[in-house]
Amino acid sequence: MWPVGICIAALFVVSITHWVYRWKNPECNGTLPPGSMGWPLLGETLEFFASNRTWDTPPFIKKRIERYGSIFRTSLVGLRVIVSTDSEFNYMVFQQEGQSLEIWYPESLTKIFGTRNLGSLHGNLHKFLKNMILTIVSPESLKKMFSDIECVATKNMKGWACKETVEMKTAVADMIFELMGKKLISYDQEKSSENLRENFGAFIQGLITFPLDIPGTAFHKCLQGRKRVMKILENMLKERRAKPNMVKTDFFDYVIEELKQDDTILTEEVALDLMFALLFANFKTTSQAITVAIKLLSDNPRALKELTEEHEKIQRNRENPESGLTWPEYKSMTFTFQVINESLRLANIVPGVFRRALRDIKFKDYTIPSGWVVMVCPPAVHLDPVNYKDPLNFDPWRWEGMDFKGASKTFMAFGGGLRFCVGADFARVQMAVFLHFLVTKYRWQLVKGGETERTPGLQFPNGFHVNFFEKDKQKDPTFSRGTAVMSLGNPWNSLSQVSAEKKEGDDDTQEHVRGKTGEA
Ligand code: HEM
Ligand SMILES: *[C@@H]1O[C@H](CO)[C@@H](O)[C@H](O)[C@H]1NC(C)=O
Ligand SMILES: *[C@@H]1O[C@H](CO)[C@@H](O)[C@H](O)[C@H]1NC(C)=O
Ligand SMILES: *[C@@H]1O[C@H](CO)[C@@H](O)[C@H](O)[C@H]1NC(C)=O
Repeated sequence: MWPVGICIAALFVVSITHWVYRWKNPECNGTLPPGSMGWPLLGETLEFFASNRTWDTPPFIKKRIERYGSIFRTSLVGLRVIVSTDSEFNYMVFQQEGQSLEIWYPESLTKIFGTRNLGSLHGNLHKFLKNMILTIVSPESLKKMFSDIECVATKNMKGWACKETVEMKTAVADMIFELMGKKLISYDQEKSSENLRENFGAFIQGLITFPLDIPGTAFHKCLQGRKRVMKILENMLKERRAKPNMVKTDFFDYVIEELKQDDTILTEEVALDLMFALLFANFKTTSQAITVAIKLLSDNPRALKELTEEHEKIQRNRENPESGLTWPEYKSMTFTFQVINESLRLANIVPGVFRRALRDIKFKDYTIPSGWVVMVCPPAVHLDPVNYKDPLNFDPWRWEGMDFKGASKTFMAFGGGLRFCVGADFARVQMAVFLHFLVTKYRWQLVKGGETERTPGLQFPNGFHVNFFEKDKQKDPTFSRGTAVMSLGNPWNSLSQVSAEKKEGDDDTQEHVRGKTGEA
């Protein structure tokens, strides 16, 4: 008995040791980029997701750049990953889409976005869907969209000015959701029995968590959120197909017309996943970009002043002061575009873009084995002092003399190559129109929060609570409301603290803090 037991134990130890050794030293026909695979299975996942307050490149990445150079290997959530912070290599990765690399997202995200989402589709179907999306976000369509964006922006901002304090992140997200719902599916929350937005709130909480689908987990809630949203969209599609609109008013109309064609490659399933992804894409990204821009402008009065002057000038030069924004006016917003680029550079809304190697890839002396995941890390490029002097400074003026020949190598907020963000122009238009109304008609004052955190996705852990005023109505906001609030022992502060604590860790569903007393 003894020798057999020892033999089994020894075998066990040997195979475990071998397995751990293999884990730490993966096979490669060439030289792997340097780096550590961390703990067996767990890898370096925990360090990667550790939160930090800095605007700089995440410490996880920064430490490894110092130790290993601009390309290194690691292991995250059980995957073998090559992290690239190298401008040249990142560029190559984007250009090689569909050749030696392919877009790829973890299975947990596929579960949430559907197996037929854009990221899982390649070739013709991908091209076809991209063209469909362009029916709403091409420059031609955007030219016609100003009045819609204006309408949503003015309505929402009027509402904010009536409130005592506004939590900007939620408020902007609501506004963006309203716009996207309108353009895509003619969704109007006030007239609808279903609260679509609420489901998205629930949904986002579980997006970047451990993918464990059992009742109680955030991931489970997330999947439930998706189910409810998909049910609503399905019902809408059914109703619409039974009673189509005569004139095309929203994206649904295009989808329905396409589905009617006999030879179309579009299926109902693909169309619904696409709707879902689009509602999400704009809601999550553009609203964050706008919130960050407001935050950065609040901290940089000189930039805010120049931005305000640019937009007041546009207003002054208008023949009819009542007429809305026009395309030529939009095109003339030089400084605004600098502010937008600079905000996107610092915001780093997308902390990582994922690809998978379809075959062994050589770069410099390294080989990236087929099947490995490649994570392009835009923040490291945007915050590299070689690309941007004093990278942590918010300096819109730096864009003035920038040479854009190499732009896609040093600015990759919207990705690059074949998978370059279809919504980039749309996002810029929304930001510009929004900023136009913000700086010409309103001013605001920080009440509480506004700190950012990265996990590594961007968060506002304490929200971003401001007092929001109409410009001509409140001549001196510092006095009229700010001081009054202070002398009352700042009740809004304690109110917002309650809401922040109650919803700790889920900044997307933070309610606006609604003060009632000051509403004259
Ligand atoms: C500031 C706002 C935005 C940022 C920072 C952003 C960022 C990105 C990035 C980095 C990618 C590339 C992903 C990859 O290569 O794997 C991407 C793709 C995409 N974005 Fe955006 N995006 C923004 C706004 C929007 C909006 C408003 C829409 C809605 C129309 C949108 C729709 C898409 C779609 C459909 C793709 C997939 C393209 C493809 O696979 O071919 N995005 N976005
Ligand atoms: C290395 O190359 C050989 C043959 O060229 C191949 O069979 C093997 O799978 C490769 N190994 C890896 C880890 O790519
Ligand atoms: C953020 O990262 C820095 C550098 O690694 C570290 O010194 C600091 O403690 C971190 N802060 C938090 C709040 O984790
Ligand atoms: C902002 O960045 C884009 C992409 O690199 C570039 O084409 C554009 O010219 C930049 N805008 C300004 C105002 O610098």
